[in-house]
Amino acid sequence: MTETPPIPSPAAEPSAAQPGAPSEAASPTIPAQVECVPVGQAWGRPYEVVYRDALPYGVVAGVVLPGDGSEVPAWALARLHPEEQQIAAELRGYRQGAFVGGRLACRAALEALGAPASPILMEGRGAPRPPAGVSVSISHKSHLAVAIVARADLGQLGLDLEELGPARPHVARVVLTPAELEAVGRLPEDRRWIATLLRFSIKEAVYKAIAPRLQRYVGFDEAEVTIRVDGTASVQLQLSCGTASPQVEARYTWLDGGVLSTVRARWSDS
Ligand SMILES: CC(C)(COP(=O)(O)OP(=O)(O)OC[C@H]1O[C@@H](n2cnc3c(N)ncnc32)[C@H](O)[C@@H]1OP(=O)(O)O)[C@@H](O)C(=O)NCCC(=O)NCCS
Repeated sequence: MTETPPIPSPAAEPSAAQPGAPSEAASPTIPAQVECVPVGQAWGRPYEVVYRDALPYGVVAGVVLPGDGSEVPAWALARLHPEEQQIAAELRGYRQGAFVGGRLACRAALEALGAPASPILMEGRGAPRPPAGVSVSISHKSHLAVAIVARADLGQLGLDLEELGPARPHVARVVLTPAELEAVGRLPEDRRWIATLLRFSIKEAVYKAIAPRLQRYVGFDEAEVTIRVDGTASVQLQLSCGTASPQVEARYTWLDGGVLSTVRARWSDS
């Protein structure tokens, strides 16, 4: 991708969501890249933890993936909990590498949080099953697996990692609501892909935060995202079937060639 995305400066980023912060349409600024964590290229020894960060909703860790679907080395498998090793043994190629990288990232993040290194198994619908009292979410691209963890009483977490390019503008019609399409359409042409990608990524993170409780598929039309240039976004849920909606907070962090979206969902009864 050739165009430079509207990346917020870390110095300007507030530590908490600010209602009323400027929307993406209000600011034409194109500040500098903030994180040197390359997403779309090989850049370290596969399966090593190379990234740890404390974000407002939880501790994030990143693990390098080889990106070529090669067999996971025995030393990396040996770092998993035996129950995770059993799951990994059933997987092959890229899927095996992604699973192992995601679990190693979880382990590193749990360690940084001071939580026990319990196995992260899988729920029936594919969600990671966290240890008691902890919320966990995982995402991976070909060269990086990331996980976020926090105390579950603070909310349910969702995390999504996306590469900035190549641009796929046709995605907009699939993932954006009519109002979002209109908002993106009002931006200068070279900003539209990033504006679409950010909404897509935040919606995927929303899904990961709320689907385990709802126990159903959530469509892209059930959430509307407004991006702010301060690294936060507002999310309006319009859940079908009259399901009670949680309060949702969302943020995004720029990486080198990618964006990391984090979401925290809180239900009034929890
Ligand atoms: C499930 C989904 C979000 C995964 O996203 P993805 O970009 O394909 O893959 P990622 O690498 O980012 O994430 C994969 C991880 O998501 C997690 N995940 C999968 N299903 C999940 C679920 N139902 N709930 C929570 N997390 C889930 C898993 O941890 C998985 O990694 P693992 O299998 O190694 O443990 C995506 O495939 C999907 O179905 N999206 C459509 C639904 C949606 O986003 N709706 C928007 C609602 S607002």
